Amino acid sequence: MSETPVMPAPSFAVTGATGHLGRLAVDALLRRGVPAGNVFALVRDPGMAKDLADLGVGVREADYDRPETLGPALEGIERLLLVSSPTPGDRVRQHSAVIDAANAADVGFVVYTSVIHADETELALAPEHAATEDLLQGSGLPFAVARNGWYTENYTARLEEYLASGEIVGAAGQGRVSAATRADYAEAAVALLSGDIVDQQGYWELGGPAFTLAELAATITEVTGTTVTYRDLSGDEYTDLLVGVGMDRSTAEFVASLDLSAARGELQTDSPALTNLLGRAPTSLVDAVRVARM
Ligand SMILES: NC(=O)c1ccc[n+]([C@@H]2O[C@H](COP(=O)([O-])OP(=O)(O)OC[C@H]3O[C@@H](n4cnc5c(N)ncnc54)[C@H](OP(=O)(O)O)[C@@H]3O)[C@@H](O)[C@H]2O)c1
Repeated sequence: MSETPVMPAPSFAVTGATGHLGRLAVDALLRRGVPAGNVFALVRDPGMAKDLADLGVGVREADYDRPETLGPALEGIERLLLVSSPTPGDRVRQHSAVIDAANAADVGFVVYTSVIHADETELALAPEHAATEDLLQGSGLPFAVARNGWYTENYTARLEEYLASGEIVGAAGQGRVSAATRADYAEAAVALLSGDIVDQQGYWELGGPAFTLAELAATITEVTGTTVTYRDLSGDEYTDLLVGVGMDRSTAEFVASLDLSAARGELQTDSPALTNLLGRAPTSLVDAVRVARM
């Protein structure tokens, strides 16, 4: 009698696993039933990942700025989630080091967290993501790109500030933002990472149900019972306001430029990919505000 061979579960690694998104991705892998012994948290400082080690997850040092850590971190890894670096200006060099190490380690599939419409937008954050996508394309590695829209948390993390002032101030006009929660993006990234590689390869525009900042203010009002309104400024007015509360001018111009991208519709997508990867509707704005309120 012939026995069906048991295929060993692939080994998964997640970079930036001490960060918000990376940690949620590790949780999502475990929730999917991947044995903890097959999950590797790649972290800059293993001392920060004791909670992950306690779950049985392998913790390995992987610092984008120290390429010598990346080869050992990726040894035996079959599928890698490369969470984009939080350091604008350094990202292409850092991501390039990870992609080179993944190639040298024969990683079988890389999922990279990029940004919405990375290759066709004026969004100031996009060029480094597009350059990373090009590096992946040129690497010969099988890859998928999760082009994440804005995090809902970019707004809900400021809920107390909005409630205290009674307003959201910005320069996004009537632009709609297809934001989703980090948890939904993490689950979607893991769906890509753990699925059939042939089906998952390519570029995925991910975002939740779109809203304007006026609609965000109305939702906050509805959920909390405290009236919050949206005050729309020009890009220059918004920059000056940010400078007035202590932000340096170049950062203020950068922040205002993100809102101007929203005003041009660059943070919106009608793609159903997030829903399809999740197998359910993304978390609604109302629910995200409710959770932030708790
Ligand atoms: N779509 C959006 O709205 C949005 C918003 C913000 C950011 N992002 C992007 O999405 C990424 C993930 O978001 P997040 O909220 O999880 O960010 P986060 O909480 O700031 O996590 C960033 C992670 O990157 C790690 N890291 C920083 N420098 C590193 C290095 N040199 N080598 C290795 N790891 C390094 C950090 O490690 P430590 O724990 O050691 O610091 C942390 O684990 C960000 O890095 C950024 O590229 C997207």
